[in-house]
Amino acid sequence: MTTQEEQTRSDLCFPPGFSFGAATSAYQIEGAVAEDGRGVSIWDTFTKTPGRVLNGHHGDVAMDHYHRFAEDVAIMADLGLTAYRFSVSWPRIQPTGSGAINQKGLDFYRRLTDELLGHGIDPWLTLYHWDLPQELEDQGGWPNRDTAYRFADYAAAVHEALQDRVHTWSTVNEPWCAAFLGYASGEHAPGRREPENAIRGAHHLNLAHGLAVQAMNARRVGGCVNLYAVTPETDSERDLDAARRIDGLQNRFFLDALLTGRYPEDVLADLRMEPDDFIQPGDMKTIGAPIDLLLVNYYSRFTVSGAPGGKASAAAAPTDSASPWVGSEHVSFVNGGRPVTAMGWEIDEDGLVEVLTRVMRDYPPIAMVVSENGAAFDDVLADGRIHDRERRAYVEAHLGACKEAIEAGVPLEGYFAWSLMDNFEWAWGYGKRFGLVHVDFDTQERLLKDSALWYAEIIRQNRPHEPTDS
Ligand code: FCB
Repeated sequence: MTTQEEQTRSDLCFPPGFSFGAATSAYQIEGAVAEDGRGVSIWDTFTKTPGRVLNGHHGDVAMDHYHRFAEDVAIMADLGLTAYRFSVSWPRIQPTGSGAINQKGLDFYRRLTDELLGHGIDPWLTLYHWDLPQELEDQGGWPNRDTAYRFADYAAAVHEALQDRVHTWSTVNEPWCAAFLGYASGEHAPGRREPENAIRGAHHLNLAHGLAVQAMNARRVGGCVNLYAVTPETDSERDLDAARRIDGLQNRFFLDALLTGRYPEDVLADLRMEPDDFIQPGDMKTIGAPIDLLLVNYYSRFTVSGAPGGKASAAAAPTDSASPWVGSEHVSFVNGGRPVTAMGWEIDEDGLVEVLTRVMRDYPPIAMVVSENGAAFDDVLADGRIHDRERRAYVEAHLGACKEAIEAGVPLEGYFAWSLMDNFEWAWGYGKRFGLVHVDFDTQERLLKDSALWYAEIIRQNRPHEPTDS
């Protein structure tokens, strides 16, 4: 055993029962967009609109997971994953977003979850990972309050059908992205640039979460947020205010709502909106309905400045887009001097410790998981192998951060690598690879990268019954 392996063993040993997973989402991997009665989603429309997605890429075939799910589950089993986080495509279940249920759509998720359970992998189901049925967008999308009620109906139907197989449920993946990239910057579907409607959308996504929690009465249900560590560039009043604003809109707007049933006053003031405009009596109680766990997606840290004239976003967008930072458009994003991934996202595992301990410190007690974490790098296939040392280092460092958070008392129950396999990375199309597993986009052939082999070894070492020193 090399010194490095020994170190890995002692460093990355997690409490019994800790989930080691990987995550994906429906539109990014499934393909089969016109099969078995699936309706059209906003991502189908968006990807077919010229100029919206780099190189005109779309998810029509994606990773063909709809047909290859058994092969993909076998790969998960080879890796030793104990859990798999996936999302359900709403338009497969309700092609127009409301009304009759498409049984064939549900059947796909029955087959998938059966396959997972058959391999001893715990299915973690996310109800919404951004693929809104187009018909609901045509009726106003998330800025339309009614969409939240349609979501609760859909959640109840999926829950009813799959509750015997799925024990951990989550509602909306990263409501910040769905609202502010979808309706303010326009970088994501549906690509609108309507700042006020982005705020309404954010509230209705939160409301959808709360209504779904009530409608499902699930055994274990969580909300999912994408949290960033945020640092002011200097201690100047201007930079401190910039950090307060970005932290407020990115983190506290959602954490406060889900975990305390309130919106932070300072953020409402930044947004320059009268809360009564869109918050109806009883909404906040619904949004703050008790949940069993918080799913935290973490990728990076922002360093921000209030000085005019800087970058409007932490990393360049691939397509023409406006600012997602409604009410704080003047804030600029500064180079924090850290190494970056192929997305241009700064690598900072300490930020993960920071966000997890912050939730523990500032909010009522709640179990947490890291439900997404990972990195895109430009992989090189050489002699049938991908030596993705940077990705492995990224995951290793962030698993180390998880361990540190646990030692600091954070009730952290699992880690899900983003992503199981290379996939359709939204506005970047197939230009960015996040997978532990490489996918040849022409042949659909899967190949385990070195990072996947390493992750499998970490999971093996943490498995009960197997002595760690053999
Ligand atoms: C997250 C998304 C996920 C993936 C990663 C890189 O914001 O939830 O679908 O695109 O970023």
